[in-house]
Amino acid sequence: MIMEKHQKIATILSNQNIQGDYYKAVFQVEDIPRLAQPGQFIHLLLPDFQQHVLRRPFSIYDTAPEQNKLSIIYKVVGEGTSKLASLAADTQIDMLGPLGTPFSPLPADTVIVAGGYGCAATFLAAKLAPQKPTVLIGGRSKLDILLKDEYEALGCKVLISTDDGSMGTKGLVTSLLPQIPQINWLISCGPIPLLKALAGIMEQQRIPGELSLDKAMCCGVGACFACVTKVKAENADGWRYARVCKEGPVFPADQLVF
Ligand SMILES: Cc1cc2nc3c(=O)[nH]c(=O)nc-3n(C[C@H](O)[C@H](O)[C@H](O)COP(=O)(O)OP(=O)(O)OC[C@H]3O[C@@H](n4cnc5c(N)ncnc54)[C@H](O)[C@@H]3O)c2cc1C
Ligand code: FES
Repeated sequence: MIMEKHQKIATILSNQNIQGDYYKAVFQVEDIPRLAQPGQFIHLLLPDFQQHVLRRPFSIYDTAPEQNKLSIIYKVVGEGTSKLASLAADTQIDMLGPLGTPFSPLPADTVIVAGGYGCAATFLAAKLAPQKPTVLIGGRSKLDILLKDEYEALGCKVLISTDDGSMGTKGLVTSLLPQIPQINWLISCGPIPLLKALAGIMEQQRIPGELSLDKAMCCGVGACFACVTKVKAENADGWRYARVCKEGPVFPADQLVF
């Protein structure tokens, strides 16, 4: 399937801290909101940031296509995201997107498992689902629990876990899974250890679904092979490299080799 993508100049409408190290940015931009599908991402070229010419990838959190609006949720972790957090409303920014392979439509009795800013990558899938999924959100502490109210406003049941017990159940987010009576499909975005644990559980319990990988990227469009991950293959090794930016970031859970 050939995905249409665009390089556009977007205008920042707002860019605000929402909690802890997390920010929400809302952009006005043509075409990309209309084309965006759940799980896809944008690649931002930060202005006046010449020491880092590479773009930075962010999941598309939400869109309002009729208003040409698109938003992301991001965590400040380094120079690029610090620069992004410093940009004021009305700043213009070069945006490439939508990129990557989206999540499949969610069937009934889907569970979303999201860690940290992974909540942003799965939000549009929940928004578009005719039967709302149950959402399990995990984080280190309550400051890492994002979008609980937004998922609940969609009609999703939300369960929370934190490593330190400061919100919801104390422990790993996977420990919440036994509370769900029926799981027909599971999707997730979060840190690699979470995705690896989920892939094991899904294989053991025969739960089909898709996982979205977060890998450091360069070109973002399949040209440089900086973002590869191992996937199963019918060759002598049993695996091959796939480009996360092009064949992913969303992969069938049973295809990934961790
Ligand atoms: C498909 C995709 C979707 C993403 N969606 C989001 C999102 O919705 N919100 C969000 O906050 N972030 C998201 N990220 C991660 C985000 O792109 C990185 O955090 C950002 O590029 C870091 O830039 P920096 O210059 O601030 O950090 P750098 O100075 O480049 O790095 C700072 C630290 O972050 C680590 N890091 C850098 N890139 C990544 C990465 N891709 N994954 C994990 N660790 C990384 C580095 O190893 C280093 O430890 C996504 C990444 C991908 C590939
Ligand atoms: S980032 Fe260049 S191929 Fe994926």
